[in-house]
Amino acid sequence: MLVNMEEIFDKLNENEAVLHFNINNLEWTKYILEVAREENTSVILGVSESAIKYMGGYKTVYNLVSGLVLDLNIKIPVVLHLDHGHSIESCKKAIDAGFTSVMIDASSLPLSENIEITKQVAYYAKTKNVTVEAELGSMDAYQKTNPKEVKEFVLKTGIDALAPSIGNAHGIYKGEVRLDIPLILEIAKMVDIPLVLHGGTGIPDSQIKDAIKSGIKKININTELQTSWAGAVREYIINNKDVYDPRKIISSGEIELKNKVKEKIRLCKNNNI
Ligand code: 13P
Repeated sequence: MLVNMEEIFDKLNENEAVLHFNINNLEWTKYILEVAREENTSVILGVSESAIKYMGGYKTVYNLVSGLVLDLNIKIPVVLHLDHGHSIESCKKAIDAGFTSVMIDASSLPLSENIEITKQVAYYAKTKNVTVEAELGSMDAYQKTNPKEVKEFVLKTGIDALAPSIGNAHGIYKGEVRLDIPLILEIAKMVDIPLVLHGGTGIPDSQIKDAIKSGIKKININTELQTSWAGAVREYIINNKDVYDPRKIISSGEIELKNKVKEKIRLCKNNNI
């Protein structure tokens, strides 16, 4: 069942977060959906602009995800979410194609421009029952969110979820991870919308739990699925030099990818906190 993020956030227990996993192809989508169903939990399928381009386009991604949900008889709530949409146009394309949620990332721009662009996306999304996430402060520029800007940003844009920059980063962390938990707490107290933690890869479990306790409601994971899958596939190819069936090669990473998805889902569920 495809839903928007609000429907998932509304049903989350205290001290619980929903997982956002990035997808790259049919197999990843299928594996993630199967594990989420096994774990009886909602899931957010995040797709970056580059992954959308890789897979063929917005409509192809929508058809792939909605087709799998139907064919696999998936009943858990599933969100199809544009991850880091960098323009109003790309968010509109996703919305028009059937995505149930989008992220507009204008965080590299000055505050007033970030507000203006985000506001326009949120306005369009509301008319289609699509939820909107936006970033304030810049993770990729290692620029933490200024708490003084938070209220104005959320109020003026009308977004449904906020991704603050709190010492997190995308990809493999260089050096020790140190999430700014006091900053998460401070921001969470200021707004009544869920907070999102990007760059979930490589963050120690204890810090993930602290982040959830402080107000994080959505955790994004991408790289850690890639490294788990790639490690298994690499080993399979080295040990099976005669195999050329792409189905065997791609699915040789299925177990490791599924185990990683399961591990992260269990970590973020209420009873483990
Ligand atoms: P990682 O690749 O670091 O897990 O981050 C994923 C992410 O935040 C996607 O938006």
